[in-house]
Amino acid sequence: MNNCKAVEIGENIFWVGAVDWSMRNFHGYETSRGSSYNAYLILDEKIALIDTAKINFADELIARISSVVEPSKIDVIVSSHVEPDHSGALKKIAALAPNAQIITTNPNGLKGLTNRYGDLNYKPVKAGDEISLGKRTLKFVPTPMLHWPDSMVTYCPEEKILFSNDAFGEHLATSLRFDDENDLDTILFEAKKYYANILMPFGKQAQTALKALGGLEIKLIATGHGVIWRTHIDKILACYKKWSAGEVSERAVVVFDSMWHSTEILAQTITEAFAKRKIPAVFYDIKATPLSDIVTDIFTSKYLAVGSPTINNQMMPTIAAFLCYLKGLRPVNHKAFAFGSYGWGGQSIALVEDELKAAGCEIILDKIRVANLPTVEQLDEITEKILALNL
Ligand code: FEO
Repeated sequence: MNNCKAVEIGENIFWVGAVDWSMRNFHGYETSRGSSYNAYLILDEKIALIDTAKINFADELIARISSVVEPSKIDVIVSSHVEPDHSGALKKIAALAPNAQIITTNPNGLKGLTNRYGDLNYKPVKAGDEISLGKRTLKFVPTPMLHWPDSMVTYCPEEKILFSNDAFGEHLATSLRFDDENDLDTILFEAKKYYANILMPFGKQAQTALKALGGLEIKLIATGHGVIWRTHIDKILACYKKWSAGEVSERAVVVFDSMWHSTEILAQTITEAFAKRKIPAVFYDIKATPLSDIVTDIFTSKYLAVGSPTINNQMMPTIAAFLCYLKGLRPVNHKAFAFGSYGWGGQSIALVEDELKAAGCEIILDKIRVANLPTVEQLDEITEKILALNL
């Protein structure tokens, strides 16, 4: 056992989660600043725990709960989301608090939890259901596909706290729990990266959830990851409004891999051509930057150019993995084109273009294909084509 302590975030309301300082990969999402699994304890006539933590942090969670109350006294466990970063310790907590009801959505939360943890003391809820803890009420708002079918947020009207689980969170390990205690630019960048890598495919569902939450007075957004919003609630809500609408800015992202620098030279020329149009452009050698950072930049940039040389009649595997990842995130409102060099065949460029189309991008320039090393004349011609685009 350790000596982890709960952090009081309101009168008799505690953060009892865990900080994962070392995590650098969250199912493929590169998390350079770690993360946290936030769980909250409300002491009232009834005692409620909102969410748990990853299984390997169960002891920390139990220690933090135990620092304010005996875990057996918990009456209600709200499971906002079945994904194991929030539900992993559920069975251990349920064993310590055998009389606690486990609140989950019906039917998706119930099915998911039963499948993972067996038959526990579940109480399935639907939109509008609420429970009284005594002085406080918990109201349940399912947010399906934000980002799993079972997802749900919980609102406490007396405290004006929204327990938002994955929504509005970010993968950030920090010793300070509130937004205004941390660097705002860093939090907003990590929140954008989180949205881009986890929630991008679900913009419509995010807008539906924002509408459902629109009438609520919110004093705290107690997220499932990263900081608790109390000072910059308007900023994160405005960001979610913009991100869920798929707003993009006049900015270009150039992503490539290269074998012998020919495709790299094309990428450099394309980046500089956008700059000549006064469109800021960012140049990503895919070997140097994690996919999760590249898609964060693409997410709000209108233009995308993707390049690959041809290897064994295919595109480079790095670019194939990137395009597979991008396609799954279902980006919207992007204008794109493919480029690359080749020794003979040159099949990669058409394959890249096909994948860009499949990812939902509008193709605005015919494939740029250059055999071997590009000449100065060919590079000038590429620049002229980009300058001539009717954007
Ligand atoms: Fe933070 Fe979808 O789990």
